Amino acid sequence: MVSYKELGFVNTRKMFEVAMKEGFAVPAYNFNNMEQLQAIVSACLESQSPVILQVSKGAREYADQTLLQYMGKGAVEMMRRMAKEKGLGEIPIALHLDHGDSYELCVSCIESGFSSVMIDGSHLSYEENVALTKKVVEYAHKYDVTVEGELGVLAGVEDEVSAEHHVYTDPDQVEDFVKKTGVDSLAIAIGTSHGAYKFKPGQKPEIRLDILKEIERRIPGFPIVLHGSSSVPQDAVETINKYGGQLKDSIGIPEEQLRAAARSAVCKINIDSDGRLVMTAKIREIFATKPAEFDPRKYLGPARDALKKMYMEKNEKVLGSAGKAPLIMAELNK
Ligand code: 13P
Repeated sequence: MVSYKELGFVNTRKMFEVAMKEGFAVPAYNFNNMEQLQAIVSACLESQSPVILQVSKGAREYADQTLLQYMGKGAVEMMRRMAKEKGLGEIPIALHLDHGDSYELCVSCIESGFSSVMIDGSHLSYEENVALTKKVVEYAHKYDVTVEGELGVLAGVEDEVSAEHHVYTDPDQVEDFVKKTGVDSLAIAIGTSHGAYKFKPGQKPEIRLDILKEIERRIPGFPIVLHGSSSVPQDAVETINKYGGQLKDSIGIPEEQLRAAARSAVCKINIDSDGRLVMTAKIREIFATKPAEFDPRKYLGPARDALKKMYMEKNEKVLGSAGKAPLIMAELNK
């Protein structure tokens, strides 16, 4: 068993306490390769934002669980060295399992150094979701690992997780769920969805901030999580299509709605697809405009730079998390 503390990660408790008080959300960015990890960590360090590094089950299989553990440790060490070199403060980093689908997977992640896990029982019956989430919480809390549960179902596809229609979170269930399970945060479904096709053309791209408000009223001060929160930057979509891609009707969540959510009890916002789009756009552009290029560093490097820029903008303009790392570090060092 490797404790996340040995790897230099923190759990999400203090992050969310500060986020709730200060009206921002901690970014949860997914990664499964080195360039994404470098971009996320350097962007968050430079914008002095806390960050949750998210790994899905599929990403864990893709990158290999052992390698991932050392990549995570390496990310913390790299952040510390870069902070010194640039005269910046260190930032808090959590390593989080995104959409854990079984007790066994959550245990395995906790044993290999994750500081936070999500158990996604949202496809089960309410009673089964409560029982599974509670079981994970009981194990995780023994090791001071924080747990995210989910109520309601998001539409869209993400790795193995997919659903055709939304089932909005029922505000009548949240208080009971939180009380019975002991979870540290709750992912809700209010109209966000996984992937690059969140709304149909002609449909108003709107999330149900009214349901969020009602949930907040039922569980005041409790950290809420929004999945499926990519905004699907249209310049990236256009670049992809200009250079041979075929993305049709890709529509995301308007950034101002996410900003409004981040000011409320939403303490964690998950973004994956936007990074995939920005990276793909840059690589397609280079393949098309520099056809003689065959050194991966010459296309993955610029893709990494584009990703870093995107994450810095998200921290600043959408999450509101830029500049908040010192507040969390101060709490952690108390
Ligand atoms: P997007 O597909 O909108 O980026 O959502 C990612 C996510 O919610 C990961 O859990």
